[in-house]
Amino acid sequence: MTSTPREERAHMKRGLNDLVLHLHPARVDARALSFSYTFGLGGTALLLLLVQVVTGVLLMFVYRPNPADAYLSIIHLQTQVAFGQLIRNLHHWSANLLLIVVVLHLLRVFYTSAFHAPRRFNWLLGLALLGLSIAANFTGYLLPWDQLSYWAVTVGTSLLSYVPLIGDSLQHLLLGGPEVGAATLSRFYALHVMLIPLLMLLVGLYHIWRVRKDRFSRPRRVDEQESLPVQMRTTLPHLVSREGVYALVVLALVLAWATYTDAPLLQSADPAQPPDPAKAAWYFAGLQELLFHFHPSFGAFVIPALIVATLIVLPYLRDDQDRSGIWFRSVRGRWGVLLSLLLGMGAAVGLVRFSEVTSLPELLPILPEWISNGLLPLSLILLALWIYGRVLNRLGLSSGEVRMVIFTLLLAAFLVLTVVGVLRGPGMTLP
Ligand code: HEM
Ligand code: HEM
Repeated sequence: MTSTPREERAHMKRGLNDLVLHLHPARVDARALSFSYTFGLGGTALLLLLVQVVTGVLLMFVYRPNPADAYLSIIHLQTQVAFGQLIRNLHHWSANLLLIVVVLHLLRVFYTSAFHAPRRFNWLLGLALLGLSIAANFTGYLLPWDQLSYWAVTVGTSLLSYVPLIGDSLQHLLLGGPEVGAATLSRFYALHVMLIPLLMLLVGLYHIWRVRKDRFSRPRRVDEQESLPVQMRTTLPHLVSREGVYALVVLALVLAWATYTDAPLLQSADPAQPPDPAKAAWYFAGLQELLFHFHPSFGAFVIPALIVATLIVLPYLRDDQDRSGIWFRSVRGRWGVLLSLLLGMGAAVGLVRFSEVTSLPELLPILPEWISNGLLPLSLILLALWIYGRVLNRLGLSSGEVRMVIFTLLLAAFLVLTVVGVLRGPGMTLP
């Protein structure tokens, strides 16, 4: 028996509704619809990933992954292929935006305390997605094979050699030889267009599924207890219509930006001629900056490893009160975060200035450099943080609030280091 067009339309609509309801619960807390809770950041990350896959597949039609042809294929794409420049611009800018959005999403989850049980494991999946987003950006960076990409990847991968014991082997494995060359390009290409997107797809789907399974955190006002009655709204159409409008606005903005701003492209890569300055990509600028102030083993390995380890254990530290869904936990927490933001920025600027005019190894020549310029300053910083935490505790902040405030201080300092790293000019001097 054949169905009428009306029955077919109804069937399709049911199919679409089913798809939506696999991704969302049937009803959501009315307040979770408020834009000022999530700022749509997780959804935006998802949308940008989709833009990357679509534009990436289109780029593959023209791009040729070997050193003799890669740069020429990009020139060909930009000048001879209809909309080629636009597709490259979209891929380039949306990749950069993705990193910013993913970090903002992490901060949203952190500052609304939405990472404790039952969402701890999803925080770890999120960290994996952040790592994959950085890896996708880094491997993509090399592909245009111009001076910018060649030297940024040379600088970026050289950081690996400071990892104790296995650093050199790790660097050799990634590069496929002693330096960036044809083997590196084919490795990065395979990672970039196959392995990393595949992993992102798998981990990303699991992450979204877990958001629903762990129950999305419930937005609360600062003075509100969990027991207040909740107003529910149906997902269709309330949530889905908002998501649709928001996605269209984000797409329109990215498209407008990509129409008017071309992705950078310098001269073809020249392994004999490093540009001045030879810098890492902006998202590694903070890390590269650490190397100016610390012994390389500490700047490139110990400190980054400490940061990653802290991010991993954060959700497993005991939370003294359930503050999930409340921005900055409490009124005290808000003031603490603001204060730490200013303090962290001030301290980082001060330490960068201090390190520019003073050399600890010269001041303390009797100590080996890994102590005078590594263990000693790091221990002093950790001691200062511990004292700061004790003072805040005495002032009445709970242990959860103290952790949040110290996290903010370190974040502010890292932001300053990133800006300083980006600002460095010829000879890596500061303006
Ligand atoms: C999270 C996902 C992705 C990110 C963050 C990302 C990032 C990047 C970046 C930063 C570049 C260098 C762009 C430039 O300045 O020219 C690039 C290039 C490229 N990407 Fe991706 N990409 C992603 C996914 C994909 C996928 C899924 C594919 C293909 C299936 C792909 C294919 C390519 C190709 C062929 C190039 C070389 C062309 C060019 O450099 O313009 N990318 N990618
Ligand atoms: C490509 C990267 C990512 C994508 C596509 C993504 C996607 C999403 C989406 C769509 C949501 C629900 C809506 C929202 O909260 O905005 C969400 C929630 C969540 N995400 Fe992510 N996410 C990513 C990275 C991360 C990172 C880096 C973290 C933290 C390390 C993280 C941790 C979480 C947690 C814990 C939730 C549940 C929040 C709650 O219940 O309030 N995600 N994610």
